[in-house]
Amino acid sequence: MKRIIVSGALGKMGSEVIKAVGKEPDMQVAAGVDPAVKTTSHNQYGELDIYASLEEAISATNPDVVVDFTAPGVVIDNIKTCMNTGVSIVVGTTGITADQIGELQASVTRDDWAALIAPNFAIGALLMMRFAQEAAKYFANVEIIEYHHQQKKDAPSGTAIKTAEMINQVYSGRPSANPDESEILEGARGAASGYVQIHSLRLPGYVAHQEVIFSSAGQLLSIRHDSTHRESFMPGVLLAIRKIDTLTGVVYGLEQLLW
Ligand SMILES: NC(=O)c1ccc[n+]([C@@H]2O[C@H](COP(=O)([O-])OP(=O)(O)OC[C@H]3O[C@@H](n4cnc5c(N)ncnc54)[C@H](O)[C@@H]3O)[C@@H](O)[C@H]2O)c1
Repeated sequence: MKRIIVSGALGKMGSEVIKAVGKEPDMQVAAGVDPAVKTTSHNQYGELDIYASLEEAISATNPDVVVDFTAPGVVIDNIKTCMNTGVSIVVGTTGITADQIGELQASVTRDDWAALIAPNFAIGALLMMRFAQEAAKYFANVEIIEYHHQQKKDAPSGTAIKTAEMINQVYSGRPSANPDESEILEGARGAASGYVQIHSLRLPGYVAHQEVIFSSAGQLLSIRHDSTHRESFMPGVLLAIRKIDTLTGVVYGLEQLLW
């Protein structure tokens, strides 16, 4: 039986992870962590202890795996805490930069520990990224529109950044930008990630959605994925919990466990 600490336990994703893990026969939630509680206490999940600090929760419960859905400003410290205590961690928190991942990878000193950092745990989103990478071989022009709920802290989304990275890996270049183009309002053309422009919408009513639009003369190809409920991420999170022991060091992307 794998024993799990859920970091960010009182958040939207953390609550969903607690529900999902609770339904599985081979794992259980040992504790939650969320500074929104000031002291160790019981909360709405009945008997589950929610700690204010990850260190305290790890030393009190000695878990097998930590799952982190918190915020960009705290996740790196949480990963370091797990590295120092030897507890492997599944990270869904987004907003982690490529430099931060590189620094974490360079600081790993043990081979009995892993962190899986995945900007998207939904299988459909992973397929969208894979199909987009394939389409990028055949289309010179591409832009990404991503749509999220209004509380999301980071922009563009981790999924959009990763999609752009995957497209840039295979892209031979797009035609030069229109020389007559100018932005009347700064940011109107989105943010550039290599060859790919990314546009981020933040509106209540959305969960997590992305459209990758390719074009060439006279044709458009749209590859779209919609997470309409946070349940969509749970099979990927459960897979990562089950398979993290097969990884070593800091690994980026759930696809490392899929194909
Ligand atoms: N990888 C994916 O598939 C995926 C899917 C959806 C959301 N996300 C990401 O997950 C993260 C959380 O999203 P959310 O919608 O649940 O946010 P949320 O704001 O609802 O929840 C975050 C929770 O983390 C808690 N928290 C803050 N600091 C903490 C700390 N030091 N230790 C433990 N808990 C702490 C907050 O109190 C809050 O309850 C975001 O970065 C979001 O982009 C990832």
